[in-house]
Amino acid sequence: MKAIVTGSGGLIGSECARMLAEEGWDVAGVDNDMRREFFGPQGTTAANVAWLEATQPRYRHARLDIRDRQAMRDLFAAERPDFIIHTAAQPSHDKAASIPYDDFDVNAVGTLNLLVAARDFCPEAPFCFTSTNKVYGDRPNSLPLVEKEKRYDYAGLDGIDESMSIDHCLHSVFGASKVAADVMCQEFGRYFGMPVGVFRGGCLTGPQHAAVELHGYLAYIVHCAVTGKRYTVYGYKGKQVRDQIHSHDVARLFLEFFRHPRAGEAYNLGGGRANSLSILETVDMLATMGYRLEYDYKDENRKGDHICYISDLGKLRSDFPAWKLEYGLPRIVAEIVGRQAASAAGSARGQ
Ligand SMILES: NC(=O)c1ccc[n+]([C@@H]2O[C@H](COP(=O)([O-])OP(=O)(O)OC[C@H]3O[C@@H](n4cnc5c(N)ncnc54)[C@H](O)[C@@H]3O)[C@@H](O)[C@H]2O)c1
Repeated sequence: MKAIVTGSGGLIGSECARMLAEEGWDVAGVDNDMRREFFGPQGTTAANVAWLEATQPRYRHARLDIRDRQAMRDLFAAERPDFIIHTAAQPSHDKAASIPYDDFDVNAVGTLNLLVAARDFCPEAPFCFTSTNKVYGDRPNSLPLVEKEKRYDYAGLDGIDESMSIDHCLHSVFGASKVAADVMCQEFGRYFGMPVGVFRGGCLTGPQHAAVELHGYLAYIVHCAVTGKRYTVYGYKGKQVRDQIHSHDVARLFLEFFRHPRAGEAYNLGGGRANSLSILETVDMLATMGYRLEYDYKDENRKGDHICYISDLGKLRSDFPAWKLEYGLPRIVAEIVGRQAASAAGSARGQ
């Protein structure tokens, strides 16, 4: 079996490429390390690609740009894959405002390039698209909330499901480009009958995230705590909440989608209530592990930032009953701390 994984150097793409290669798939990975262009040297995902090439004989890397329509058509025509996982993106809410053309070209047009290539060369192949909860814009902030000592929470709601409107709210440039891609993916499912799944991620995380301030909140806050770098909390008293899901659990879900594909369904994807954490709670958790985070507080929140976002996983669980979350919060955080501490020790030794 053959798969194409875009963004194969990134957090989710590298996990999916590894999982598939280890399960005997031939994997063509597409990544041009554009994350380095977005976020500078610390954002590079070249090490993940090098690791895949060195350890996974079934992995082949294609340093291609998903914006290159003809290159994508040639790749799909040559590979005729049985499965596509599309994770390549400009992933930052905050970054997008300064690079709106690049953001839209990668997130929206790049996704269209892949969908059309899939329709023309492998329309039966399940296609997973990593969308985002930012398609709901700032609408989650209109839900009634209660303020607790260390976090905000919903008043009488467990989590957000897919019935929330994506319309008439503030999205950010990133949220808008992802809406375009999200709706286009649904359309290729509904209009062309293709097995395209749309997964609206909350906070997707894991040790191989190339942590930068503008994307990858948990990996970045751990990086700061471990290296002694000051962190900045933007607004909401540090009580903003996110649900965390490990990249391993995301990759396993995509494999379940391959086994039981649906045409054009959208799902909220996160760690759910059990894996939800506020910034103040993250600081406390790191302190119990021996890492004291030094931080500054700025009153102004990031524009359109969610105050509390916890995914309702009901639809996912009902459509993919064999899928279970394997990573709870302590395990997620411990893994990231382990990786960041090892990397800090390596830098101190000049490696
Ligand atoms: N990590 C999260 O918290 C989160 C949350 C919600 C949604 N998502 C979505 O999940 C997906 C994966 O996120 P991630 O955290 O793994 O991102 P990431 O930045 O770690 O990985 C994305 C990869 O795509 C590559 N890429 C970017 N532009 C490209 C282009 N034009 N051509 C080829 N490759 C290109 C980058 O170099 C990078 O390696 C993205 O679509 C993102 O929007 C992520």
